[in-house]
Amino acid sequence: MTGPAGPVLVTGAAGGRQGSTGRHVVDLLLARGLAVRALVRVDDDRAAALRVAGAEVVVGDLREIADLGPALRGVRRAFLTYPVTHGLVDATGAFAVAAREAGLERVVAVSQLAADPAAGTPHMRQHWVAERVLDRFEVGAVHLRAAVFFENLAVVAAAAGFRELALPLGPPDTVLPLVAAEDVARVAAGVLADPGPVEPVLRLTGQVLTVREVAEAFTAASGHEVGYVDVAPEAWRAVADDLYRDGRAVEHLSALWAMFREIGAVHELYRVSEEIERIGGRPPRQLAAHLRDAQARV
Ligand SMILES: NC(=O)c1ccc[n+]([C@@H]2O[C@H](COP(=O)([O-])OP(=O)(O)OC[C@H]3O[C@@H](n4cnc5c(N)ncnc54)[C@H](OP(=O)(O)O)[C@@H]3O)[C@@H](O)[C@H]2O)c1
Repeated sequence: MTGPAGPVLVTGAAGGRQGSTGRHVVDLLLARGLAVRALVRVDDDRAAALRVAGAEVVVGDLREIADLGPALRGVRRAFLTYPVTHGLVDATGAFAVAAREAGLERVVAVSQLAADPAAGTPHMRQHWVAERVLDRFEVGAVHLRAAVFFENLAVVAAAAGFRELALPLGPPDTVLPLVAAEDVARVAAGVLADPGPVEPVLRLTGQVLTVREVAEAFTAASGHEVGYVDVAPEAWRAVADDLYRDGRAVEHLSALWAMFREIGAVHELYRVSEEIERIGGRPPRQLAAHLRDAQARV
């Protein structure tokens, strides 16, 4: 294995609402001096910004095999991300076939911390299937099993004008494993640039906090009280239908919050990962600092 010859294909490169992992990966690879081919779904102002940053832009749908052959031509390594919505296994299947045909040697794919055939949400179980599909096609898959993104909580707080954090998580002592999407991207960029062998599964958690501590981090970043409010699951679902407008995302998040509520305390999977610093090159971001930086950018 020699490291990237030809451009690295980065999917989800325009970034989105969930974590913009792809956009972070583009910037991190360009900063390392690597050539990047950015796959976007639509040629919009985000695509224009990618060109300005120095990436080659290709337009395509990850679920459409006809788009993936040209996107992967001359590529040896790729970053694969697909948002929490319907179509994950379709997209991964098409990508695996095209990657195998193109002779890829490494595909770094975003997955979820508890991906498992018996995982607590349908989307996590689909991530398990997606992981196995990539493994079967022997494209050098590296699965980044990420904890809950900070950005996920920020979307919820922003919907309430950063006045409260309303989630169906039970008592404020309920524990959450968290990570900055940017740290997931840093590890992805490290693995994509590394010519040597890498572990095929990396679990990425940057911080383990109770919901009370999460609310305190929002309070510290915003300069006013942001209280945690335990809402009934049905009430949260009604708000979420409006907030996400995506049945798959609402289904996943409803089951996710219920899972954390039931587990309550620290679980064996909730472990701050040494891999973030070892491969990503710096210690994990902390929630309060992440929120402060995000506010400063607004
Ligand atoms: N959110 C969390 O707390 C969390 C935690 C752990 C793991 N994860 C995992 O993180 C991944 C999502 O993170 P992310 O940062 O990549 O999400 P994101 O910020 O929402 O970005 C998704 C990108 O994918 C593009 N896209 C959507 N559908 C596409 C299609 N059919 N073909 C090509 N591109 C498409 C979007 O483009 P448009 O914007 O143009 O649609 C967007 O640029 C998922 O695998 C999820 O399971 C999330």
